[in-house]
Amino acid sequence: MTLRNGPNRFGVIAKSFHWGMALLVIPLWGLGFYMVGQTQDLLAQYELYQLHKSFGFVVFTLGLLRLAWRLVDPPPPLPADMGRLHRLGAHFFHILFYLLLIGMPVSGFLMSAASPLGIPTIIFETIPLPHPIGPSEAAYGFFQTAHYYMAMLLAGTLAVHVLAALHHHFIEKDEVLRRMLPFAR
Ligand code: HEM
Repeated sequence: MTLRNGPNRFGVIAKSFHWGMALLVIPLWGLGFYMVGQTQDLLAQYELYQLHKSFGFVVFTLGLLRLAWRLVDPPPPLPADMGRLHRLGAHFFHILFYLLLIGMPVSGFLMSAASPLGIPTIIFETIPLPHPIGPSEAAYGFFQTAHYYMAMLLAGTLAVHVLAALHHHFIEKDEVLRRMLPFAR
């Protein structure tokens, strides 16, 4: 396995970004829904929110690094026999993924900043993040709604992504899934 992508497979760095982000984003999604319901213990809820924000910040940083790395090391091309519509669909969903992986943390952070409760954002109980905007009921409502709908869209996009990968592997029987698997040669 090489660090960089080759003509027919992904390298260690692109695979690590891919599976590392999957391992972070899926639990973060579940934590988001779980923590909003924990209203019977406000201290525990506060800690879960800070954990959610901290890992959200990690996802944001990784998302930017991943985008930068993609420019340095472009992905291998899709199989030559894939139709035009199929290719367009694949590109559309990849772009949507990147937009959501950046849009989720940004809307979450702006929602936290605009919250009338004025709760600080402290990454891993260590680094306080300055809020770029102050409390505002209207901005809070807007970013909360955006965060919620993006979370729904992210779940739908993930479902399509997984189904598409399985379709390539079991129906088309091509290399698209195998070339991203962690230990495949
Ligand atoms: C990829 C990153 C993220 C994902 C997948 C994610 C996902 C979610 C989900 C599914 C919810 C529950 C739905 C809702 O009520 O809105 C939620 C809630 C929330 N998220 Fe995130 N989130 C991410 C990043 C962030 C970040 C970076 C912050 C703040 C710095 C944040 C702050 C919040 C807050 C404050 C709530 C509670 C909303 C409420 O009280 O109604 N999120 N998140």
